[in-house]
Amino acid sequence: MGKMIEEAIKVIINNDRGGFTIPTNRLYPHQWNWDSAFTALGISLFDKTRSWQELIMLINAQWRDGMIPHIIFHQNDPDYFPGPDQWKINAKSKTSCHSQPPVLASIIWQMVKRGNEYDKLKAGTLFNSIMAYHKWYFLARDPSKEGFISIVHPWESGRDNCPDWDIGLENIKIPNDISSYSRRDISHVDKSERPTKDHYDRFMSILHFGRNCNWNKTIMHFGGPFSAVDPGVNFIFLRANKDLLLLAKHLNYIHVIDEIKNWISILNKGCQKMWNEQVKSFTAFDRRNNCFSDAITNASLLSLYAGAGTSKQKKYIVDHCKRILDICSYGMPSLDPNHQSFESKRYWRGPIWCVMNYMIAIGLEDEGEYKIAEKIRNDTIKLIESYGMAEYFDPHTGVGLGGKDFSWTAAIYLELCKEKIDVSLINNFKNKKNGFNKT
Ligand code: GLC
Repeated sequence: MGKMIEEAIKVIINNDRGGFTIPTNRLYPHQWNWDSAFTALGISLFDKTRSWQELIMLINAQWRDGMIPHIIFHQNDPDYFPGPDQWKINAKSKTSCHSQPPVLASIIWQMVKRGNEYDKLKAGTLFNSIMAYHKWYFLARDPSKEGFISIVHPWESGRDNCPDWDIGLENIKIPNDISSYSRRDISHVDKSERPTKDHYDRFMSILHFGRNCNWNKTIMHFGGPFSAVDPGVNFIFLRANKDLLLLAKHLNYIHVIDEIKNWISILNKGCQKMWNEQVKSFTAFDRRNNCFSDAITNASLLSLYAGAGTSKQKKYIVDHCKRILDICSYGMPSLDPNHQSFESKRYWRGPIWCVMNYMIAIGLEDEGEYKIAEKIRNDTIKLIESYGMAEYFDPHTGVGLGGKDFSWTAAIYLELCKEKIDVSLINNFKNKKNGFNKT
């Protein structure tokens, strides 16, 4: 078995905190929603029981209204900000108070599709929770039944400081008492690779607002400081519903099939809201300022992953992919390098994220664009083999940035190299796992 495959497994095992996996030590010491889902996909290639456990721990944190939070604080860690006391819905709060891109159903479908009866059984036990989660998205994030999801915080997009949110953030009034917090992230990672202080003040302003209204869904949606239609969340959600439908059919859950089909048709129509004719792409839309973002991002390219758009729109998106790949050494940057806000090293304003590449490649392949899909997968493998399991990568130089030994990067590496994983060696290898030092 390749050395890098062993390395990837080791990274994930070292980030295991007892049934759930942290993204990386110190910088992100809790359980994150979509990180955990992608990580479970990677784990399923070497430890099936443990991969379902990861998802169960995530789903156990589901709120009564169906929401699965973006962070679960299983233990206290003063090294992380903003912790549970900042979100605080009540004294016992153990989670953040909004969600993250709902990849869960798609990950579960992947695990079932390539699995056996055991996986089918596990998926069956989680199915109702996923249904409740998807219902929550419609109720809480599309209460006027417009056909698309609106997020209440940039963090809900998982693409925290993307230029898509600049207009919305700029117009947020920062309360006077906001300046006294102390960020922890910049003590772990170079400041130039993280969101700016101004952005952070604004992130915290939304958080204060949410805390003050007890994260009331209606107040957040209609009157909160921030509301945006995110191509990432919308396309991931559309794909998740398509995958949920496949799962329902596979499990023979006939009673939910019409409901899920209806969700798919609503979202298929609704996503046209994000078609920005000016730049001939799907882009984010800011509801508070009633305007499009002019940024073509890696989330715009997920329309193919969702199978969304007309054939003309699909062609435009494929052309954007080709154009962007031509101007980068490695694909796919989080922002079009021709955009004025592009920064090759700063978080979601340019760098490559492996989980996004994983989904973009699936979308391109679905569209019959095998060559570009393969190029993106090969770039992802090359980046990881040359620069390690970094959080994200510079699309020009390839250098790994942000946190190191990142779980979802390792998981995507395993997923992309799964044919090379030698199952007969896995047990042997797993027995050694107790020998790994948890750093
Ligand atoms: C950052 C990313 C987010 C991710 C989290 C943990 O906040 O923007 O997408 O889930 O880190 O890795």
